[in-house]
Amino acid sequence: MSTRLTDLPLEPIETASRDALQALQLERLKWSLDHAYRNSPVYRRKFDAAGVHPDQLRSLADLARFPFTAKQDLRDNYPFGMFAVPQDRIARIHASSGTTGKPTVVGYTLNDIDNWATVVARSVRAAGARRGDKVHISYGYGLFTGGLGAHYGVEKAGLTAIPFGGGQTERQVQLIQDFKPEVIMVTPSYMLAIADEFERQGIDPASTSLRVGIFGAEPWTPEMRVAIEKRLGISAVDIYGLSEVMGPGVASECAETKDGPTIWEDHFYPEVIDPDTGEVLPDGEFGELVFTTLSKEALPIVRYRTRDLTRLLPGSARAAFRRMEKVTGRSDDMMIIRGVNVFPSQIEELILRHAELAPHYQCVLTKDGHLDVLTVRVECAHGVDPAGTRQASAKLTYDIKAYIGVTVGIEILPAGGVERSVGKARRIVDQRPR
Ligand code: DLL
Repeated sequence: MSTRLTDLPLEPIETASRDALQALQLERLKWSLDHAYRNSPVYRRKFDAAGVHPDQLRSLADLARFPFTAKQDLRDNYPFGMFAVPQDRIARIHASSGTTGKPTVVGYTLNDIDNWATVVARSVRAAGARRGDKVHISYGYGLFTGGLGAHYGVEKAGLTAIPFGGGQTERQVQLIQDFKPEVIMVTPSYMLAIADEFERQGIDPASTSLRVGIFGAEPWTPEMRVAIEKRLGISAVDIYGLSEVMGPGVASECAETKDGPTIWEDHFYPEVIDPDTGEVLPDGEFGELVFTTLSKEALPIVRYRTRDLTRLLPGSARAAFRRMEKVTGRSDDMMIIRGVNVFPSQIEELILRHAELAPHYQCVLTKDGHLDVLTVRVECAHGVDPAGTRQASAKLTYDIKAYIGVTVGIEILPAGGVERSVGKARRIVDQRPR
């Protein structure tokens, strides 16, 4: 067993046996399916249509007989149609903006918020937070689950929350300098923007009080972890989550092992399925991640198709809890260029091999006749003249052809030239005519 980096106490379940955890999962899963069936007409209709009843669940594997839930179910029942408790028990609402159509609306009871805080507190401890740490939170506050989700967890862990939220990059730098937080919670892409601002102000980003970064809400590669750790002189871990299931903290990485997020399986039951057939795959095989909530009251979620691609791995630093491999792609983000599947993260990995380039990038899709064309728009590193990057550009074109198998255009912009976001980065810019 590896030595823990936190000096904060763990919950008993975090060190329980796999058998004890599975027994708890089964008990909670029965409750959750029954609750969904009895209190949400949408689930009742879906279960009836599939010819299944919560009483038929005798083992965890029986879950495979129940129907999936998709984002469309939430949209079809906008805004509150899937809630399973009366309005006067809903303590909070969040919503994800989404790029098209209606937002996805989710609700929480006070118990849900407490459970959410519990899993985020675990995540913060797993990241290596220590007694007395101050946590600078740059995830957006508001309808997005990132800010408030992180906030309640930090407080529950017994640490100091600094609720900055996203944006005002200059002031973020000033407050990090003045308040001296040891931990930061932010999207990895915005962390880079904050690091750039440190440099612009003539401050070495590695010289701050920060020791730990808890990054998520968007895909980021292992290469990006190395780059961020080096540039900021911190230890960087991955926090995963989605609003439909809870928010941040569905799974989070342990600092001792940094081997993919540990899934807090006593609250969220994971499955990985073949995205085409819906068949459940054995642990270790790649597919689409699916979650069923085990304790959520306001909005129980049964077999939610996340569209995130990953695989389940055995527990490590928290032995009873399975891990997921770091998510580096969503099926929605897959670009098909002349028959080849391309994910932005594959491009990111190759960009990070070049010291002359900064990992601020976008994949721009256009059309040339009937053919889709991909242009990678990427910035040069701080202090590098775009004119001096011809070699890097040629090498990147070559690498993308060699490793991914597609020919792309490369557009190198001066430092600061690629659109910055203060939350999730926009990696794909689709300019193809509809
Ligand atoms: O992004 C919740 C969150 C906030 C997670 C802060 C972590 C930190 P949504 O806006 O609903 O919720 O987006 C969920 O974002 O299905 C993934 O595709 C992606 N995502 C979230 N965390 C990660 C991660 C929040 N660590 C969607 N790695 C998910 C890769 C991630 N993708």
